[in-house]
Amino acid sequence: MVNKNDIRRKIISAEDTETEKPKIPEPCVMVIFGASGDLTKRMLMPALFQLYCEKLLPENFTVIGFSRKELDHVSFRKLMQESVKEFNEPDNFSEDSWKEFEKNIFYYSAGYHDINSYKHIKTELDKFDKKKNTDGNRLFYMAVPPDTIPVIIENLGLSGLNKTVREDSWTRIILEKPFGYDLESALELNKKVSHYFTENQIYRIDHYLGKESVQNILVTRFANGIFEPIWNRNYVEYVEITSSESIGIEGRGGYFDNSGTLRDMVQNHLLQLVGYAAMEPPSVFDSKSIRDESLKVFQALRPIKVEEVEKNVIRGQYISSMIRGLRSSGYREEEGVTLHSRTETYIAMKFFIDNWRWGGVPFYIRTGKKLPTRATELVIHFKATPYRLFKRKNDIAESYNMLIIRIQPDEGILIKFAMKVPGTEFKVQNVNMDFHYSDLSHVKLPSAYGKLILDCMLGDSTLFIRADAVEACWRFIQPILDAWKEFPKIKVYGYPGGSWGPDCADDLIAGKDFTWRNPCKNLTDDDKFCEL
Ligand code: BG6
Repeated sequence: MVNKNDIRRKIISAEDTETEKPKIPEPCVMVIFGASGDLTKRMLMPALFQLYCEKLLPENFTVIGFSRKELDHVSFRKLMQESVKEFNEPDNFSEDSWKEFEKNIFYYSAGYHDINSYKHIKTELDKFDKKKNTDGNRLFYMAVPPDTIPVIIENLGLSGLNKTVREDSWTRIILEKPFGYDLESALELNKKVSHYFTENQIYRIDHYLGKESVQNILVTRFANGIFEPIWNRNYVEYVEITSSESIGIEGRGGYFDNSGTLRDMVQNHLLQLVGYAAMEPPSVFDSKSIRDESLKVFQALRPIKVEEVEKNVIRGQYISSMIRGLRSSGYREEEGVTLHSRTETYIAMKFFIDNWRWGGVPFYIRTGKKLPTRATELVIHFKATPYRLFKRKNDIAESYNMLIIRIQPDEGILIKFAMKVPGTEFKVQNVNMDFHYSDLSHVKLPSAYGKLILDCMLGDSTLFIRADAVEACWRFIQPILDAWKEFPKIKVYGYPGGSWGPDCADDLIAGKDFTWRNPCKNLTDDDKFCEL
């Protein structure tokens, strides 16, 4: 019997994709502030180790961990080794490679407020330049809670660590999201960081832009002649983005309860996806042009008026439920969450982009925790044919073509279109044209953090957020925060963990033919996204 995967493999063979020689950054030292925290353990160190194993890091490379916790070099290395084992794919860990890699890891503990510790780091960095030939190139990574960032920036500035060491060396800083807590604090943070660093030293990270499939949105749109002519209000009925997570807040109650999904996911990740889906083609593919074009999208987002928030922005919070026979706790039972918390763990919203390409086309985005599955996808719903020549017994919604860009998991692209069912009658049915990245068996998708750290070391800021874009996104989000504050009666809907969120979110999108497209919850190896 012919195996479906064999056919796929034949269609896309290794020769069809070019592998280019990767660029290796110049020697450098990376200083991680918040080195004993969750982000370093789960994301940064596994990403660095993967880069090391793939020989993408410079030969002369050093990581310095910096945080308040009392640890020495050896115990920090041990801690990192355990994390890398836990958070890297199991067959990606080699003891021998780790032994080599850990020789480049060092740790210093000190308070972030203590200027002397920065002076100490400066002396150490100078020593590393000599001992390890790191050439004066420095990358500071802020893996700390948002309220700690300003004091670190200030102390880096006061101790002179913000300056480049030599004319031909570089000093860069990566700032983790959330970038600010609201518009005012984001403006303040931009002011503070730009006081000590120039904009081309500042890399505001949003790990969604490091995902291969997100970058592929640009390639799909701008490297193919067939999509761009129909990627506009003349042919598109609406655009939908879903980013669902099956996990809850995973012990991050302290942070999350003061943040909520609007700040945690929408202001950054989802709006960045909107930027890529909606931008105009840049005239050249460089950092400035790409970032200019996504900025124009953010500036064209039609502000949701305070009085329209209740109707257009649905917020929800997961409540306890039974998932696969087991009790799943509600958000208010999570550690670090206040008893009567009204923090949202789910958002569904509708908005418009006021420009010539998108005028009148609704954008629907939705994201939440404890939904039935982990999946992120961008769906372009095209308009139906002017009239229905063929009758369809099934779903009227099938008269609309869809292009689905699966961001994760099972990264790929799916096009749904109508076909004649073989037989004597003109029966019509929708079929799939489906590409899965996994079919390129020789291609290993790089981790989003790895890609972005590498880009920063190479001085490529294309996939990082510029100050003006952060501010434009907050300008769009701020009226929603204001409305919630001014009108606390705006409902926070409870939804059972394991469901697709509050029912009323359906009313946002429900038209005569439409509803949300739910990625399937029962993933099987054969068809990870069964079509509902
Ligand atoms: C982070 C959020 O930025 O993104 C988390 O703080 C969220 O709450 C995570 O879980 C989702 O990222 P991914 O890559 O798993 O979709």
